[in-house]
Amino acid sequence: MTDNDEHPVLVVDLGAQYAQLIARRVREAHVYSEIVPHTITAAEVAAKQPGAIILSGGPKSVYEPASPSIDPAIYELGVPVLGICYGAQLLARDLGGTVEATGRGEYGRTTLTASSSNGLLDGWGSETTVWMSHGDSITAGPTGSVALASTPEAPVAAFADDERRIYGVQFHPEVAHTDRGQELIAGFLHELAGLAPAWTNVSIIEAEVAKIQAQVGEAKVLCALSGGVDSAVAAAMVHKAVGDQLTCVFVDTGLMRANEGAQVEDTFKNQFHVELIHVKAADRFFDALEGVTDPERKRKIIGELFIRIFEEVARDLGAGTGDEGPKFLVQGTLYPDVIESGSGHAANIKSHHNVGGLPEDLDFELCEPLRALFKDEVRAVGEELGLPEHIVWRQPFPGPGLAVRIVGEVTRERAEILRNADAVVIDEIRKAGLYRELWQSFAVMPAVRTVGVMGDGRTYAYPIVIRAVTSDDAMTADWARLPYDLIETIANRLINEVDGVNRVALDVTSKPPGTIEWE
Ligand code: XMP
Repeated sequence: MTDNDEHPVLVVDLGAQYAQLIARRVREAHVYSEIVPHTITAAEVAAKQPGAIILSGGPKSVYEPASPSIDPAIYELGVPVLGICYGAQLLARDLGGTVEATGRGEYGRTTLTASSSNGLLDGWGSETTVWMSHGDSITAGPTGSVALASTPEAPVAAFADDERRIYGVQFHPEVAHTDRGQELIAGFLHELAGLAPAWTNVSIIEAEVAKIQAQVGEAKVLCALSGGVDSAVAAAMVHKAVGDQLTCVFVDTGLMRANEGAQVEDTFKNQFHVELIHVKAADRFFDALEGVTDPERKRKIIGELFIRIFEEVARDLGAGTGDEGPKFLVQGTLYPDVIESGSGHAANIKSHHNVGGLPEDLDFELCEPLRALFKDEVRAVGEELGLPEHIVWRQPFPGPGLAVRIVGEVTRERAEILRNADAVVIDEIRKAGLYRELWQSFAVMPAVRTVGVMGDGRTYAYPIVIRAVTSDDAMTADWARLPYDLIETIANRLINEVDGVNRVALDVTSKPPGTIEWE
């Protein structure tokens, strides 16, 4: 523990997916937050010495029999509490107020009329646009609280008890549609709960560096770089902490994006002076994939071969031989991978490039410097550590690489065509200023060839499908409405510049029912 996370703000997950967004907003106010399940006991809360507690929204009604609630002894701990939506209704229900099913809920943008400019609504004018999503309404706040604001269907849309430091808002300050929502969250944390805005990129790095040094000591550390953001930031952080105790391994599977290996080498070897082992293993991967068309078999073959190659490198470096070899393995696990939410589901750990398949004598201890961070924080920290834009802002890329974008057999020739096509798509998306906005944008190669004419000749070559999606978390995605002009430019360049391509199509499938990748 360090100064930053000594007094975390606990975001109690009362259902649905509201807690993560709230936790991120708290971090944006430069205060460390943790998501905890609503089943947490008062003793467990007390043990964490929280600086404040925020109760999230949830989809239920507080009077339904199985509705989530919290240990009432939590209210007696003297920790400032802010309830949001369902969380505010829970405070009202548990602490002497009333919540009623008025039959008139509010959904979407609503005008909030403030009757008091109490600390919670400090500086808010008489009318503010807020985002609502409630069926039930608070008709009386907790005993001892004052009502601060109302909306047409919510008689008590905000309340405050400054003495007990218990606050509630019916609206959602965490969503962007609520004007001044972030201000409200920051004001609650800084002014009402008295928490210093100490969680910054610099402080995150300092704290993590200290933790890594304490964990690793003088031992050697290994890190598999994938070319993606997470492993790159994790490696840069560990390198800052333990310098040349770190060795990075980059396995070029032949299925990477254009220039990926060169960029990794340039950044880590030339700029950061990290000990980097660049394994050029394309031939082994193509040989292993010969004749394979089933997507899951491809994944398995690539995953296993990757692990075997990594194992070979680790053994060469002396892993498993005792004190001399590397003892720690860096993993780019992020906070969303480890959150145990109110749903009670246990943490799910990334399986890609995981240690799962390594033999027992290579019994690495894990070093996970990004375990407390959200993706946006990882990017910000990456920039602070000096990683280049093209690595920090790189779109997600599947572990099996281009293999799951080449429908049918993965050959050297087809991988080369797709890599060249992908580079054109990415180049144009970047030029159009859309690269960061899109969740993923790439080229796909179906397992057919089609007829075309070029010059005076007939062609029989591959079509390329443009796949571009918007998404927040890859669980759902929408196909991106790329401008026609951009689609035309991409199509022209693909056909003119990429040998082996004579037709271009656009994928207009959302997820669900489609997936983002084609395999
Ligand atoms: P789908 O295609 O299932 O993809 O909508 C969701 C997200 O996961 C990525 N993806 C993978 N990542 N190994 C990975 O590490 C895989 O086998 C894999 N398959 C899909 C995909 O790029 C998208 O971001």
